[in-house]
Amino acid sequence: MPRKIRPTNLTKGLSRRQFLNQTAAAGIISLSAPAIVRGRNLNDKLNLAIIGSGGRGADNLAEVGTENIAILCDVNESNLNKASQSHPNARKLIDFRKVYDYSKEFDAVVISVAEHTHAFATLPALQLGKHVYCEKPLAPYASHAREMADAAEAAGIRTQVGFNYLCNPMMDLAREIIASADIGTIVSYRGIHAEDYMGVDAPMSWRVSGPRGSGVVADLGSHIVSLARYLMGPIESVYGVLKTVVPARAVKPGARRKQKIVADDEARILARFANGAGGTIEASWVATGRKMQLAYEITGSKGSLAFTQERMNELQLYTAGQKPGREGYKTLVADPNHPPYGAFCPAPGHQLGFNDMKVIEVRDLLLAIAGKGKAWPDFREAWEIQRVVDAVIRADAEKRWVAIEEIR
Ligand SMILES: NC(=O)c1ccc[n+]([C@@H]2O[C@H](COP(=O)([O-])OP(=O)(O)OC[C@H]3O[C@@H](n4cnc5c(N)ncnc54)[C@H](O)[C@@H]3O)[C@@H](O)[C@H]2O)c1
Repeated sequence: MPRKIRPTNLTKGLSRRQFLNQTAAAGIISLSAPAIVRGRNLNDKLNLAIIGSGGRGADNLAEVGTENIAILCDVNESNLNKASQSHPNARKLIDFRKVYDYSKEFDAVVISVAEHTHAFATLPALQLGKHVYCEKPLAPYASHAREMADAAEAAGIRTQVGFNYLCNPMMDLAREIIASADIGTIVSYRGIHAEDYMGVDAPMSWRVSGPRGSGVVADLGSHIVSLARYLMGPIESVYGVLKTVVPARAVKPGARRKQKIVADDEARILARFANGAGGTIEASWVATGRKMQLAYEITGSKGSLAFTQERMNELQLYTAGQKPGREGYKTLVADPNHPPYGAFCPAPGHQLGFNDMKVIEVRDLLLAIAGKGKAWPDFREAWEIQRVVDAVIRADAEKRWVAIEEIR
């Protein structure tokens, strides 16, 4: 049985002090809210095992108090040693299967390895009744993601998947505006996630070592699809075109020898939403110059919304009927009216950052573990997202529209 987390400090609403207390109670540290460290009450601490301490894992580690990391696991000894410098008391393991030999030492597991390992690393945790935070995409295939969701629900544990951009308070504001009908009937969604970290000079890595469909459509495509579903509701069908832009990459940094690549570098998607709206969605990791263009425009019959993660504290709102010659988008700026912004800063416009989204994300998981609320997105939603990704891959292969219902 999973250990019960006492709800006292974890569940008390969203005032700044309470938010800090509940977050601190679980040992979660926001780099931008150091007061959390000072207010920490370790009585309720949650012990974690972390599998994968590389790029993403290291970020996740930065959010967690030293005392809470019981086990650190990474096949790469240099990454493991680097991560353990900040967590000297954590047990160090190289083989993730060994993590579960020490299952009494932790309550939840954080999976931050490549997606083809997620299911293998997660399923034992579910059998042992451990809560799981898993990086996105949940699995390389929707069928694996569904198995993971089924197993998690059968085990009755809480799950969360790292679609952290959904935790930006501006996303809830966008949802609220859409639901209020202030921008009328929704007509279309244009979304893009473009970055340039896999440009022509980037060497081979697990990111590009798989088949067509294992590349950017799964990696960044899943993020922009997660936003599409969050804001617009279910997608019914898609058409997709995938492209490998860099056909061969250096086998390792600086090497002359190259390896042929078939994984996709660009994805272009047409989408039909269940609400009747149409959409275009793009993903690229070869978009030279773009560092974080996770952006969308949502057009309604009476107005529009526009957002880009590069300006994550702003939402652009256009409403029809403005005075001629004075028409334009209005910039809505994040402030304490957009919970839980006020828990970080009482002043409007002072801005949250990426790490604050991670704090909000993990706070939601802790509340869910304490039996208060639902961690989101959970494995079931991550499966839904993966169904869309798989449908795009099938559409590209079969050159036809694919209904999401076809993908199980
Ligand atoms: N949510 C986000 O914004 C975000 C951002 C980046 C990456 N990610 C996701 O995080 C996951 C990891 O990506 P990353 O960028 O951290 O990758 P990475 O390659 O930087 O790190 C992965 C780490 O896992 C280790 N590893 C690999 N196989 C292992 C195994 N079998 N057992 C133990 N350790 C193992 C590697 O040695 C490495 O240290 C992926 O699913 C990725 O899509 C999410």
